[in-house]
Amino acid sequence: MQKIKVGIIGTGYIGVSHIEAVRRIGFLELLAVADANQALAQKKAKEFFIPRCYSSLEEMLADPDIQVIHNCTPNNLHFDINKKIIQAGKHVFSEKPLARDSHESGALVALLQAWPQTVAAVNFNYRMNPLVQEMRQRIAAGSLGKVNLVHGSYLQDWLLFDTDYNWRLEPEIAGVSRCIADIGSHWMDAVQHLTGARITAVCADLLTVIPVRKKPAGQVETFSVAHSDAWEEHQITTEDYGAVLFKMDNGAHGVFCASEVSAGHGCYIDIEINGSQATLKWNQETADQLWMGFRDQDNHLVMRDPHSMSPEARALSYLAKGHPEGWNDAFKNNIASFYQYLAAGKKLQTDQPDFATFADADYIVQLTEAIVQSSKTRQWVEL
Ligand SMILES: NC(=O)c1ccc[n+]([C@@H]2O[C@H](COP(=O)([O-])OP(=O)(O)OC[C@H]3O[C@@H](n4cnc5c(N)ncnc54)[C@H](O)[C@@H]3O)[C@@H](O)[C@H]2O)c1
Repeated sequence: MQKIKVGIIGTGYIGVSHIEAVRRIGFLELLAVADANQALAQKKAKEFFIPRCYSSLEEMLADPDIQVIHNCTPNNLHFDINKKIIQAGKHVFSEKPLARDSHESGALVALLQAWPQTVAAVNFNYRMNPLVQEMRQRIAAGSLGKVNLVHGSYLQDWLLFDTDYNWRLEPEIAGVSRCIADIGSHWMDAVQHLTGARITAVCADLLTVIPVRKKPAGQVETFSVAHSDAWEEHQITTEDYGAVLFKMDNGAHGVFCASEVSAGHGCYIDIEINGSQATLKWNQETADQLWMGFRDQDNHLVMRDPHSMSPEARALSYLAKGHPEGWNDAFKNNIASFYQYLAAGKKLQTDQPDFATFADADYIVQLTEAIVQSSKTRQWVEL
């Protein structure tokens, strides 16, 4: 078997995680990186010994050896870059959200109809934590009974101060939603994946906690702190926080909140599923543990252990118990899932993948828009 040859466009915060993940998968060859910031792309190419380095998408598309491109650019470029990758006859692994709005994401789904050989995925990586898969298998096997309630949160603090700044605060780049599109989208995707059900109605309350921020003169890397004395006041129109009541098509009701201004929280994703017989609860900051609760017997902690998990979860787990697996491992699992699918010659029209498809991600964009609409109109919105 020939190695699959990969290019990565966007070598900022998440681009580096893609470089490292691709390098961990034996049957891939990371051939090139590209970034509009050519100095950055060159620095990463040198640091990681990546043989080819480009300063634009066009240069990367023109490289006939590259079979798959990872799109790790800001949200406003997802539509155009994903479209051009598909039209160049290459496969695409895109960062989330799929696009800034559902016109763009729907157009990408439609475009794929004309490219049936193309495999396209969106990086909703929390699906591929072994214990998220374990939850999925236990729910499908009926271990919880009927799923009644689904709740949790995704909390961060990296935008807590008015001096915190990033392109995500600008709707022309990020889209009309920020906190929900950026991190609530991950929570919704994980919950829909592990329950096997869709969120079909939402009632939301969105809040901009910091309406004016200090925009620094230079570019600020994601999750870093601006150290600039030169700044200008910038009006913020997207949400720092969102709370969402929802209903699912399996009859379950739920609620989640997402925040980028909750001090002390880095990547606090907790998901709790209350069934008619038992509860499952998982938090990505303690990713190796799954809590199972009962009314009529002792609660217990399920520790990640390749020997005792379901085959589907075991397939995503590599280390013996007691050796923590976490965010990087799940991230790599999601990328590996895409490439295993591609290498097996599977097609999206006929083979249901475990990774998020463009259609899945388009639905998340629609949900995000429904949440924004609901908060504005103070009404439930159905999909
Ligand atoms: N899956 C996850 O957990 C996760 C985590 C973080 C970010 N993301 C997603 O990844 C994307 C990038 O986020 P980030 O935090 O890495 O941003 P970033 O600003 O750190 O990096 C983006 C990079 O894209 C480059 N770029 C901008 N315009 C370009 C162009 N026209 N051509 C080529 N390169 C260009 C920038 O120079 C920068 O290096 C976003 O869509 C974000 O939602 C996903």
